[in-house]
Amino acid sequence: MITILAIESSCDDTSAAVIRDGILLSNVTASQKVHEEYGGVVPELASRAHQQNVLPVVDTALKRAGVRKEQLSAIAFTRGPGLLGSLLVGTSFAKGLGLSLHIPLIEVNHLQGHVLAHFVSEGKPDERHPSFPFLCLLVSGGNSQIVLVKAWNDMQIIGQTIDDAAGEAFDKCAKVMNLPYPGGPWIDRLAKEGDADRFRFAKPNIKGYDYSFSGLKTSFLYFLRDQLVQDPDFIEHNKADLCASLQKTVVDILMKKLRQAAKDLHISQVAVAGGVSANSALREAFLDYGRRYKAEVFIPPFSFTTDNAAMIAQAAYFKYQAGEFCPVDAVPFAKTII
Ligand code: KG4
Repeated sequence: MITILAIESSCDDTSAAVIRDGILLSNVTASQKVHEEYGGVVPELASRAHQQNVLPVVDTALKRAGVRKEQLSAIAFTRGPGLLGSLLVGTSFAKGLGLSLHIPLIEVNHLQGHVLAHFVSEGKPDERHPSFPFLCLLVSGGNSQIVLVKAWNDMQIIGQTIDDAAGEAFDKCAKVMNLPYPGGPWIDRLAKEGDADRFRFAKPNIKGYDYSFSGLKTSFLYFLRDQLVQDPDFIEHNKADLCASLQKTVVDILMKKLRQAAKDLHISQVAVAGGVSANSALREAFLDYGRRYKAEVFIPPFSFTTDNAAMIAQAAYFKYQAGEFCPVDAVPFAKTII
């Protein structure tokens, strides 16, 4: 029996999960509300909150799984990329627990974890998982990438943003409309009442499968600046239409490159991962793509879209089976690599 405890602490969510023989037994996440009033994640506050949360979150995950710590086979942790102070909390906790229990450590790349979220199993009969190779659109607050997934341990980034990430574009445009942080879910909610064809914003012209979102952000900002001169309440009067039109533009940009990549590489399975995959228009665009192009699409449950330890546990389960453990001197890394 292989039982792994996984800890995720790369940004502002403290999460712990337990997986046994490939079946997820628990996934507990404490989100940090402290950042809301600052309009973005404050790294120092994030590390402090992780310090407070990590023990109760791990304890709850073990209790919900019905697992005692002495029954664990290994401890997994997110090594990076992410905020260094945040990563240090999870990494140090995992090392301390692993050493005290005399069990091995498994390090997991956060971005690979997001992709491998598609293999998390809760033991339900109707679960579907992609087979290799497939394309994964990885979209979050910090990343927008198209990943060619050839195996659980063989991934190639074939396209990525050259400036802002899709989530960042949502959040920055939301801020201009005075919406709370993070703005992505607010835009999604307001867009449901709006006309997505009312306004048009700049779409980038970037070669290959790379993305760019900074032009869209600027176009949105300048458009509002001009409109506000004529009507100081322009945002209030048009909020739903603005959100719907902006959301449509982001989704169109994301889907166009993904469609092209799938066509060029003759890949018929496409998946979406990361925080922005919670977006209802993006999820709908994926379903539509599946219907039109007879492709198999994979959209994760909401609980596995934002940062979570279930995906880290799944990645660790693959690694355990392959005997990939890490030394106790493994240090976290902040930089984005896959
Ligand atoms: O993967 P994630 O939880 O962590 C970071 O990369 O930080 O992604 C967070 C991002 C934020 O930019 C947030 O606005 C965006 O995901 N997001 C959404 C939605 N839910 C979260 N964007 C659009 N629509 C949503 N429903």
